Amino acid sequence: MPSEENAAGARVTLHVVSSLDGFIARKDNSVSWLDGNGRVYKAGVSISAEEIAAFVKGIDCYVLGSRTYEHAMKLGWPYGDTPAMVVTGRKLPPARKSVEFYSGDLKTLLHEKLVPRYRNIWLVGGAMLCQRFLELGLVDEISLTIAPVLLSDGLRLFGGSLAEKRWDLKNVVAYKNGFVELSYAASEREPATD
Ligand SMILES: NC(=O)c1ccc[n+]([C@@H]2O[C@H](COP(=O)([O-])OP(=O)(O)OC[C@H]3O[C@@H](n4cnc5c(N)ncnc54)[C@H](OP(=O)(O)O)[C@@H]3O)[C@@H](O)[C@H]2O)c1
Repeated sequence: MPSEENAAGARVTLHVVSSLDGFIARKDNSVSWLDGNGRVYKAGVSISAEEIAAFVKGIDCYVLGSRTYEHAMKLGWPYGDTPAMVVTGRKLPPARKSVEFYSGDLKTLLHEKLVPRYRNIWLVGGAMLCQRFLELGLVDEISLTIAPVLLSDGLRLFGGSLAEKRWDLKNVVAYKNGFVELSYAASEREPATD
């Protein structure tokens, strides 16, 4: 069931890449673990640059926390000219035309700024912002890609004290590089009580 805020038909998809042990970033922020280990999983699929481009074209807006934004700016902005909303309490210098900054209540952000303008909204990190969105029940779908690596340490994706909630598995895709993408939709089922 879409969350109340998204009744207009918009949906929020939380998308992150996690290690096998649940980390989304190394402590030093280095990203080589996202490159894969060169092994090929023969039964996996591969997608072409054209397919990726067509998929990304369907995304109307990205939402990200300021730390993810700063890291993305350092690495090379991966979101092209698609509108991006950066959540921050600070006054950050505007760096790109497509980037807007927001400070304040996240329900208001979704309800008043995003849903009237966008349908396919992608929340792309980091851990802090994703946890806030989940706590507030603002996420409709989770797209979790598992990388074939144990990091042992770093930033936990679900490190906060989130309430129990069920999610329905919608799709699984295993890629040739050993990464596995799991797609879930928020379930109407209540958490188990026993
Ligand atoms: N593996 C992946 O898929 C993936 C994806 C994204 C990010 N990452 C990694 O995750 C790390 C960043 O994650 P993070 O958890 O440290 O930070 P984050 O969620 O990217 O950003 C946290 C910041 O967002 C702002 N913020 C969050 N909630 C807010 C609210 N309710 N109201 C106002 N501002 C709010 C605050 O900004 P101010 O401090 O500016 O006020 C806060 O410090 C980076 O290392 C990045 O590379 C990994």
